[in-house]
Amino acid sequence: MQEKLVLAYSGGLDTSVAIPWLKEKGYAVTAVVLDVGQHGKDLDFIKAKALQVGAEASILLDAKEEFATDYVAPVIQGNLLYEGEYPLVSALSRPLIIKKLVEIAHQIGATTIAHGSTGHGNDQVRFEAAIHAFDPNLKIEAPIRDFQWSREEEIAYADAHHVPIPVGEESPYSIDENIWGRAIEAGILENPWHEAPEETYELTTAIVDTPDVADFVTISFKAGLPVALDGEAMSLTTILEKLNVLAGAHGIGRVDHIENRLVGIKSREIYEVPAATVLMTAHKDLEDLTLERYVAHFKPIVAEHLANLVYDAKWVSPLFDALQAFIKVTQQVVNGDVKMKLFKGSAIAVARQSAKNSLYDENLATYTASSSFDQAAAVGFIKLWTLGNTVFEQVNHVHSEQGEQHD
Ligand code: ARG
Repeated sequence: MQEKLVLAYSGGLDTSVAIPWLKEKGYAVTAVVLDVGQHGKDLDFIKAKALQVGAEASILLDAKEEFATDYVAPVIQGNLLYEGEYPLVSALSRPLIIKKLVEIAHQIGATTIAHGSTGHGNDQVRFEAAIHAFDPNLKIEAPIRDFQWSREEEIAYADAHHVPIPVGEESPYSIDENIWGRAIEAGILENPWHEAPEETYELTTAIVDTPDVADFVTISFKAGLPVALDGEAMSLTTILEKLNVLAGAHGIGRVDHIENRLVGIKSREIYEVPAATVLMTAHKDLEDLTLERYVAHFKPIVAEHLANLVYDAKWVSPLFDALQAFIKVTQQVVNGDVKMKLFKGSAIAVARQSAKNSLYDENLATYTASSSFDQAAAVGFIKLWTLGNTVFEQVNHVHSEQGEQHD
């Protein structure tokens, strides 16, 4: 009997030539197409294509909702940005893809999982780390990493095995996308001194073509997660889809990032993340209103660690779970609404409120005489706050003159 293998299938040239190649190696291939909200892709067509190029079975799974609630949500709550710029678009989908593939492997009795990553990127590490975590007994095939073909060799192999070259496959770019955003690399982008050409972008309009009138959108959050737009309750996937369109039209969410890969290479990547930019800006603004000062200052330190863990293929890890538990606790008070102004490439929070959890007290903050802040109490506070320094200066005179009295 042939060994069964489950392949993460995208429909592109790489994973398509992988099918006959894996067949020649003796595997019966089940292709799995995961819907994580790829923009404008005909996934039924891709599912059928897998069979056409030789897969024994082909499965299309809608994982959008699960991707949004279990993977995107923690990024929103944590405000996770790798190196302060990249909201982890591709890094996020990898553990979910493997989770699903492992489930299918168990259902059909497959021994092996295959992915289409090359040998110089982060994704191979993420795929394989997740396989090791979910089922270390599964074998791994990475055909693209193994065959190391030139483009010409790959196309010749495709021709010889009746694998159609998809329209657009002549595109020089490598693109990965899901409902949280779009990542584009390679081609002319490999020259970091070359501005990304306009054709790179699909979700975001160039600023010269964006509307001259701003759009406003009010986002309601519950426990740090968006639950409604302009007062209308909707699922996270719908919110992401709507904001990608609305903010994309204002040219919001273009990122041009020179990035430190886990495997030691610096790479140049373009990202389009309109919904992510709006949501994370709004979320941070609501945290400014609702988080206690020490929590607000400590959370970004945790967030930086978490973003590194997600990027570095440690989604499934004890430290991730522990830090994630911290983030969850902080989010209990992040309830309220933020009004966002979308205009000419920027998403700005212009108003915010939290009926239940606002720590902003107008009576304390006001400059008018009606202030309830006890100004007299400030005097004693400052004395004690500075006491340590005062004693140090009296002894050492680093900043003060000897013998001079200060009070
Ligand atoms: N550099 C990003 C990461 O490691 C994206 C990787 C996939 N990008 C692509 N254009 N195929 O998460």
